[in-house]
Amino acid sequence: MSETILVTGGAGYIGSHTAVALAERDVQVVIVDNLANSSAKAIEAIDRLGGRRVIFHEIDLLDADALGDVFQAHPIDAVIHFAGLKAVGESVEKPLDYYRTNLLSTMNLLDQMAANDVWDLVFSSSATVYGDPKILPIPETAPLGPTNPYGRTKHMIEDICRDAAAADRRWRISLLRYFNPVGAHPSGELGEDPRGIPNNLVPFVMQVAVGRRERLSVFGDDWETDDGTGVRDYIHVLDLASGHVSALDRLEPGCDEFNLGTGTGVSVFDIVKTVENVTGVSIPYEVVDRRPGDIATSLADPSKANEKLEWRADRSVDTMLTDSWRWQSNHPNGFNDEQHLTAEAEG
Ligand code: NAD
Ligand code: UFG
Repeated sequence: MSETILVTGGAGYIGSHTAVALAERDVQVVIVDNLANSSAKAIEAIDRLGGRRVIFHEIDLLDADALGDVFQAHPIDAVIHFAGLKAVGESVEKPLDYYRTNLLSTMNLLDQMAANDVWDLVFSSSATVYGDPKILPIPETAPLGPTNPYGRTKHMIEDICRDAAAADRRWRISLLRYFNPVGAHPSGELGEDPRGIPNNLVPFVMQVAVGRRERLSVFGDDWETDDGTGVRDYIHVLDLASGHVSALDRLEPGCDEFNLGTGTGVSVFDIVKTVENVTGVSIPYEVVDRRPGDIATSLADPSKANEKLEWRADRSVDTMLTDSWRWQSNHPNGFNDEQHLTAEAEG
C-alpha cells in the first residue's frame, strides 16, 4: 500500500520540489496551500514531473475546520510542514502577521494531527534560528538567537514541537534547519518564483541575467570574509528535497534538529562569477551599504544529517546556478509568463 503524505505549502518553492521527489517514490502526495506566495501552475508542473497526480486543496491553514476536513478525507501517514511566511524584512514591518500565520497555522496543524492520530512530522526550520553565529561551521548544538520576527517564529515553533514531543512519546518530529536553498528542477519547468523584487541573492542575480533588472546591489564588500562580501552555504533545492525524504524515512520518537547544508562557503562575488560563466551574460553590480541584520558568514556543519539521516548535499554551485538559469530563461516571468525567451527571439 502506498504511503500518503500531507505537504503543507506544497505549491511553494521547496515544497513543490519535495512533492516531486515524493511522487517519484510512488507516495500519494496531498498538498494544502492557500497560494498566498505561489501559483496553481506549480501543481500542474508537479503532476507532470512526478509521474503521478498529487491531490491539491486550496485552503488556508488558519482555517482549522477546512484542515480537519483534509485529515478526514485522506489516510494521512505523515506531514511535511512548509507553509508559512518567510520574508525577513516583511516580518519586521508586519510582525503580527508573521506570528499569527506561522504560529497559529502550526498549532492548527499539530492539533489536527493529534486528533487524527498522525504523529510523524518534518518541519521547515531555518538557519536563521542561529542568528549571528559564534561558531563556524555551525553545529546543531550552537546557541539559538534569531534576530528578527520571522526567525523568532521558527524558534518558537521548534520549542512548541520539542515540548509536544516531550509530553507525548507518540510524536516523531524532525526540525530541518535549511541554509540557503537555490537551484531549480533540472527540467527547467519548476523553480523559485518570488513575487515583486526578490529579497534573495540568486533570484535577484537571475533576474539581472535575464534582463528584468538593471544591476545587482552588493550589500557590502567590507565584511570579514576573504573577498569582503557575505559568505553563505548554498544548497540545491533537489538536495534539500531528498533531505526531507531521508528525514521522513528515519523519524524516531521525540524531536530532533538537523542542519541541511553543504558545509561549503560561497561569497556574493563567487555567485556573480559563476552566474556569468553559466549564463554567458555579464552581471553589472554596484557595492552599496550593508543590509541591516545581515551577517558576514553562515555555514552549516551538516555532519549530524550526514550520519543520522544518511544524507549528503552533493550538487555543486555550478549545477545549482545552471539549473536556476534553465528555469529563469525558460520562464523569464516565472509561472505568470509561459512565453519562452526563444519564442520571443524567434518572434
Ligand atoms: P514559499 O513561500 O515558496 O512556500 C511557502 C508556501 O506556503 C507558499 O506556497 C504559500 O502560498 C504557502 N502558505 C503561506 N501561508 C499559508 C497559509 N496560511 N495556509 C496555507 N498555505 C500557506 O517558501 P519556500 O522557500 O518554499 O519555503 C518553505 C518553508 O521553508 C517556509 O516555512 C520557509 O520559512 C522555510 N525556509 C525557507 C528558506 C528559503 O530561503 N527559501 C530558508 C529556510 C527556511
Ligand atoms: N545579497 C546581496 N544583494 C542582494 C541580495 C543579497 O549582496 O540583492 C547578499 C547578502 O548580503 C548575503 C548574501 O547575498 O551576504 C545572501 O543573501 P540572501 O538574502 O540570499 O540570503 P540570507 O542568508 O540573507 O537569508 C536567507 C533567507 C532567510 C534565511 C537564511 C538562512 O532569506 O530567510 O537564508 O536560511 F533565514
